[in-house]
Amino acid sequence: MAAKAAKVRPAPAGGPGPEARVAEEPKAKVVEEPKAKVAEELHSLKLIRDRRSIREFTGEKIPDEHIEMILEAARHAPSPENMLMVRFVVIRDDQETKVFLADIAQEMAMSAFGGAPFELTSGRLWYIADPYRASQYAKLRDGDLFRYPEKSDTVIIVCASEMWHDAAYQYPNELFGSVVSGMAIMNMWLVASELGYGCGYEALVCSDPRHAELIRDRLGIPPIWVPITAFCIGKRVSPRALGPSRPPLEGLMYQERWGLPYKRLAFRKEK
Ligand SMILES: Cc1cc2nc3c(=O)[nH]c(=O)nc-3n(C[C@H](O)[C@H](O)[C@H](O)COP(=O)(O)O)c2cc1C
Repeated sequence: MAAKAAKVRPAPAGGPGPEARVAEEPKAKVVEEPKAKVAEELHSLKLIRDRRSIREFTGEKIPDEHIEMILEAARHAPSPENMLMVRFVVIRDDQETKVFLADIAQEMAMSAFGGAPFELTSGRLWYIADPYRASQYAKLRDGDLFRYPEKSDTVIIVCASEMWHDAAYQYPNELFGSVVSGMAIMNMWLVASELGYGCGYEALVCSDPRHAELIRDRLGIPPIWVPITAFCIGKRVSPRALGPSRPPLEGLMYQERWGLPYKRLAFRKEK
């Protein structure tokens, strides 16, 4: 049944009087107090804390509906003037392209990590217990760790643009396109995590402009679009509980002015 159009009474000449204006104002909504009292009560924060980079996939298929839920999350990313300067090439069936991306990632990883001495750089994997750390480090150096696009169900080539498409106007602030892409990727990552899938952000494939050009050619990506990552989604081989920790709030935030460390509630003196 069609909804009845609301009757609008014409305003008297000279506009409605102050009383009428008061009567027309919508009732103030009662703003509910946030219910969560401690961080553990927030579902969103739990998802954010539990999210990890996953780099080992089983190669099994994910139902189409789940992939579409993940893509739906990307569509809702915020962007300047809602321009969404981000596009996604969703690769699911083209195994050859997945292997092509895995080859590039491995080659890049070998040149990025291959030459660094174990003693200097293995510490970055401190959170992996011995004796597994050494084998994980070996996979980092020979690039095997980064071949995961080939076992992913879905590889999304995320492309950013700094152009404002409607008006051929370029935002004076560069990097808007990559900021929007980051927000869209994070949306997808959280939904995929809630669904129980693993995700990996494979920037290595686009880090060298020559590789980015090869990807552009292969997938027909036009010049104003810059491929920034191969975002991989798949079924995990195992749940990854432990990952690199983050610095405490004091390590990242300043209070009121640059250089004055933010003080967590737990360390503030009670007034
Ligand atoms: C901009 C960016 C680039 C990244 N590049 C890669 C990459 O090329 N390959 C990869 O496997 N992970 C990459 N990562 C994932 C990070 O290594 C990972 O997020 C970080 O070590 C923290 O681990 P976590 O995601 O498990 O919390 C990247 C992440 C970001 C945000």
